[in-house]
Amino acid sequence: MRETSLSLDDFIYPLFVTYGKNTRKEIKAMPGCFQESVDKIVKHAKEVYSLGIPSVLLFGIPEHKDALGSGAYDPHGVVQKAIKAIKDKVPNLYIITDVCMCEYTSHGHCGIIEKGDVKNDPTLELLAKEAVSHAGAGADMVAPSDMMDGRVGAIRDALDEEGFSEVPIMSYAAKYASAFYGPFRDAAESTPKFGDRRSYQMDPANRREALKEVALDIEEGADIVMVKPAMTYLDIISDVKNAFDLPVAAYNVSGEYSLIKAGAKLGWIDESRVMMEVLTSIKRAGADLILTYFAKDAAKILNK
Ligand code: PBG
Repeated sequence: MRETSLSLDDFIYPLFVTYGKNTRKEIKAMPGCFQESVDKIVKHAKEVYSLGIPSVLLFGIPEHKDALGSGAYDPHGVVQKAIKAIKDKVPNLYIITDVCMCEYTSHGHCGIIEKGDVKNDPTLELLAKEAVSHAGAGADMVAPSDMMDGRVGAIRDALDEEGFSEVPIMSYAAKYASAFYGPFRDAAESTPKFGDRRSYQMDPANRREALKEVALDIEEGADIVMVKPAMTYLDIISDVKNAFDLPVAAYNVSGEYSLIKAGAKLGWIDESRVMMEVLTSIKRAGADLILTYFAKDAAKILNK
């Protein structure tokens, strides 16, 4: 009678690539998650693949950040190097890259800053450059998470022009200005140095606006649309699933992970049961794919 069941094929596991060698630093507030240099990421990728998880999402933490986030489209950037190294050793692992400026800019915003404000249109060119650079390094799919208007179209055009018309786009389509990203910003060292992301990310109070955001991304060429965060936005996942015919992804974000890990550490909740319940509810709401830091823990349970 069970209507919903989780499968390993549902999962995408996020990885954080940093510079240097032989580096593996556990992320505060995200036990079990690490910032890793390329050599360590390859080992981790092998482990992920051997658990039966088909796909990873790469985030980069560059050695140097600047106002234009040049590390994002550096052919020798951390993500570009990691893609090549993983493809070399774990060729069948499907690699998705997060396309955004915030991990690479000195100010920590997802776009270019002029006179204290994020400038939408000039940012599009850089995002397109970043996506092309990831595809050139061998990424299987790109995932723009910046929430600038028009970026899916700009990235699609650039990929097509550069000969990457087969590389799909998973857009962070309905991405909310959420407090649940806190631990991630430590992980990616991407906390904005001033202001916040409310001029480009969505108001958590808005539901209908999500459909508008998703429709725009689909019109521009998105192949998969994502809702983020997941747990507190199950209504949005369900709305998007019912309104459109594209695959829907949901991002079970850092704060959602941390809360469960913390509760379990205190002995207040049963970690694996809560985890499986949360993941199942995200799928039940309509997600075809779940980006989650729990992927490895859940895989171990599903593999039993
Ligand atoms: C970059 C980005 C963020 C996350 C994914 N891509 C942070 C943000 O928008 O501030 C959050 C992921 C998480 O919390 O797990 N724009």
